Order: sequence, then structure tokens, then C-alpha cells
Amino acid sequence: MSDQSIAFLDLKAQQARLGPALRARIEAVLTHCQFILGPEVTELETRLAQFCGAAHCVGVSSGTDALQIALMAEGIGPGDAVFLPAFTYTATAEVVLVLGATPVFVDIDPRTFQIDPAALSARIEAVRREARLRPRALIGVDLFGQPADWPRLGEIAAHFGLFTLDDCAQSFGARLHGAPLGRAAMATAISFFPSKPLGGYGDGGALFTESPARAALYRSLRSHGEGTTRYDVLRTGMNGRLDTLQAAILLAKLDHFPAEIAARARLAALYDAALAGLVETPVRVPESESAWAVYAILLQDSAARARVQAALREAGIASAIYYPKPLHHQPAYRAHHDGSALPVAEAIAGRILALPIHPDLGEAAIARVSATIRAALGF
Ligand SMILES: Cc1ncc(COP(=O)(O)O)c(C=O)c1O
Repeated sequence: MSDQSIAFLDLKAQQARLGPALRARIEAVLTHCQFILGPEVTELETRLAQFCGAAHCVGVSSGTDALQIALMAEGIGPGDAVFLPAFTYTATAEVVLVLGATPVFVDIDPRTFQIDPAALSARIEAVRREARLRPRALIGVDLFGQPADWPRLGEIAAHFGLFTLDDCAQSFGARLHGAPLGRAAMATAISFFPSKPLGGYGDGGALFTESPARAALYRSLRSHGEGTTRYDVLRTGMNGRLDTLQAAILLAKLDHFPAEIAARARLAALYDAALAGLVETPVRVPESESAWAVYAILLQDSAARARVQAALREAGIASAIYYPKPLHHQPAYRAHHDGSALPVAEAIAGRILALPIHPDLGEAAIARVSATIRAALGF
């Protein structure tokens, strides 16, 4: 192994860059001691809403809880079908089952890896024909930093009367047709997991909506279903608040967020140039700007991927497979799947490989990763 390893995420370098601002924000919270729903939470909610042009933002305890709260607010439960891509992180499907509803897995576009609108329509029609479940909601995922095809997804959802939830956990900061993500669906969930483009130093998330009624419900649900006072319990909720300390850290990081996205985009362009002709580099969603949470390449087959991954490991370079199995093949979900083949998700899972991309990565690192891949493939 080389002693100059290249990590997937370098939180130490990030702290060296942002240190004084982070420490000042943390110090302010230690001074005022309002650790639960302190002023930083409201300040962050206001700034995030401004950032993406949303009417309302509600800070919550994680991206997963953001998804769950959004579905709880719609009363989604047993007998309801919630459509979502098969190629995503488990949290997208998990919240559906936690609420007793049924996830219906949909195949993806082979080029962009986003949920395939034509496959979605076909799945909704099939569920309607079978008449065992009520089609209730669509969770569209903006995968790897790129937006899903929201104009088309919105049309399909409107046609079938579905609630639309944007799982934007990986893609806050991305743009579609010039507009930042955050208003593409009836509600948008984001995550502050440390590896996300806007990552905190612990768990956290937020919900955006244009609806004041939904925003009020989200605030109630994140605080045990409370009403106008703390001991006024209107509904079953959860303990799903965003910590003040996380909000303070995120406020310090938000100032640097646009520059970080620009840095990620520059690195992606360098990878594109260095890897052209060697592997399939990421295809851009038309008229969009990615937040570059993940830079994922496609190898010819799983054997080539294993060779490349071994060579990277040998050189001290991190890589990761998002996702080795589509969700409908996971033990937790198999029994909830109707058995339909989802061939694109199944094939992509065997060939995909994510390479390091983060704002503290230098251009030399991109050259080293690319040279290692070139050598592993025998070019
Ligand atoms: C697509 C997707 N949805 C939901 C989540 C859940 O977010 P969190 O880890 O903040 O709960 C994640 C990431 O972790 C994700 O990648």
C-alpha cells in the first residue's frame, strides 16, 4: 500500500479549512446552552429555504426521519403502495415499511441511473389493475448528486393522483433547468450525513415544502405530535428534531457550500477527461448541474470492476460500490417485492464503482486514481 492514501472523505482537511468558523459557531451554542431547537435551528431553516427558494424548511434528526415524517403527514400506511427506484439507499424503502405501507420498486434509466419514468407509469398501471394496493405516493430519488426527471415524474404523479416526495438526500445543491432542487416535488427531504455534499458532523436532515399546512404538520410530527404547547399532544409523532449543535456546524459550512460544489464539478470534469475511453464516465442529466455527491463509473463487467477495485486498494485509494444489490434483492425487501425483473438496476449493480470526489481532493489525486485504473485495465 502506498503511504499517500486517498480517502473517500477527508473531514480533517475540511476542518483545517473551515476550523475557526466552525469553532466560533459551536462556542456560541455552548454559551447560550439552548441545545434543543435553539436559535441556530431557525437560522439554518431560513437560510436553507433561501438557498433553494422554498417557502418552508423544517430541520429534522436525519434524512431518514425527514422521509418518514413526510409520509406520516400524508397518513400513508397499510394498504398503500409507495413507488420508488430499486437502485437507491435502503432508507428510501425502509420508511415505507416502517409505516406499514408497501414499497413498489421501479427500474432505472441505464444512462443516468435515475428512476425511469416509463417504467414508473407501467408499475403504477400494474398496481391499479391488480387492485390489491392503493397507489398513494412516489418517492423520486435524486441519485448521486443529479436530479431525477422531475417534470416528467410530476406529470405522471398528477395523472395518478400521487403525493410526490423528493428524496434529495444525496443531491442538495444540484440544479434542474436552472432552479435549485427543493421545490421539485410536494415535499423534499435532505440529509446532513457527514458524507453528503452539505454534511454535518453527525446525523441531521431537513424537509422543504411550499405548503404551510404541511410545514406545520412536519413541525408537530418532529416534536412528538405536539400542538401549540409542549404538553398538547395532537397526533402520534416522533422525537425527530435537528440538534442545535448540528445546525451551528451546518451554518458555518453553508457559507462555503457553493464553492465546494464548484470544486466537486471541477474534479468531475478532470475525471471525465482522464477516464474517457477507458470506462463509462457519468452521463449528465440534461439541463442540470450535479452536486457531485458521488462520481460513479461503469466497468465492462463485475470481473473488470473487481480488478480495478483491487488495484485501487493496493494503491491506497478508496472506492465504493453504490449499490452492490438493488433493493428488491435485499433480504429485508425480497418478500415485499412482486417478483418483477428490474433488469437495468440488476445489471448496473454488477458494474458500477464510485471514486473519491470531495472538495479537499487535489488535481494530483485525480491523476493518480485515473492512472491506477488505466493500468488495472491494461491500457
Ligand atoms: C438516497 C438516500 N436517502 C436517504 C438517506 C438517509 O439519510 P440519513 O443517513 O441522514 O438518514 C440517504 C443517506 O444516508 C440516502 O443516500
